[in-house]
Amino acid sequence: MMNVVNSIAAARQQIGEWRQAGLRVAFVPTMGNLHEGHLALVNEAQKLADKVVASIFVNPMQFGPNEDYDRYPRTLEQDSAKLSEAGVALLFAPSLDEIYPPNSSTCVEISSVSTGLCGDLRPGHFVGVATVVAKLFNIVTPDVALFGEKDYQQLQVIQRMAADLCFPVEVVGVSTVREENGLAMSSRNGYLSGEEKQKAALIYQVLQGAAHQIEGGERGYRQIESAVIEILAAQGFKPEYFAIRNAETLAPAESGDKQLRILVAAKLGQTRLIDNMGLCL
Ligand code: PAJ
Repeated sequence: MMNVVNSIAAARQQIGEWRQAGLRVAFVPTMGNLHEGHLALVNEAQKLADKVVASIFVNPMQFGPNEDYDRYPRTLEQDSAKLSEAGVALLFAPSLDEIYPPNSSTCVEISSVSTGLCGDLRPGHFVGVATVVAKLFNIVTPDVALFGEKDYQQLQVIQRMAADLCFPVEVVGVSTVREENGLAMSSRNGYLSGEEKQKAALIYQVLQGAAHQIEGGERGYRQIESAVIEILAAQGFKPEYFAIRNAETLAPAESGDKQLRILVAAKLGQTRLIDNMGLCL
């Protein structure tokens, strides 16, 4: 049976008992509206620990003033059923006040990897992510925490934060789960019409196309980037970036780099989509 708690004290109580018994704890933080991508994190977590803790909290601090905080899908009942079935032992679903009591004044800011890409387009986003994840790490004290490669820059930010702030946690990345047409699963895909969903597969296709070109020997990274941005715009997307980067530093890729990450963000209608792909040369 999955235990569902809303308070920090109750979460600590349950996790404390497991720690006393010498059990290993894995943690999967989420904002809910769960899909196969989230459940892949839970499945991976099962393999790495004795007890899996998940959290559901739609974190206002990581949404910009004109973003979708208010209309972000909240589906706690269905989410609980999915997590319970997937074998999660504890669901932490706190209220806003539990996480941000009125006098909260501390935030966590990571430079380097949180600048550029989504960091520039969503000012304050990664401060919000890092702050809430730091709080959740302090509440759950996991041995291992799992994050999706779907949000590659977020994964880098959390890895940097855990190392820099000496959190005793191993941060593990999990491969992106996709729809049959290649579209990366996302809670925001629910905003897309049927037609838009089909069209959105282009995001994955341009990633694959660029990867093939690079694997075939093309090293004109800046030309590939601008050509793809033109294709996306011509197909009715509003591209925000298409960037071929060094996978570790996220600096623009140079011809000698061996580990690359290609990252894309584009709007389709009102919906902002992101995706990325790794490449080893
Ligand atoms: P959310 O968007 O709910 O995602 C929760 C976790 O699921 C993240 O680690 C995300 O990368 C992963 N995920 C989402 N879609 C995925 C997919 N298609 N395949 C694999 N993993 C996927 O990311 C957040 O919430 C928040 O920023 C959070 C870390 C919870 C902090 O508030």
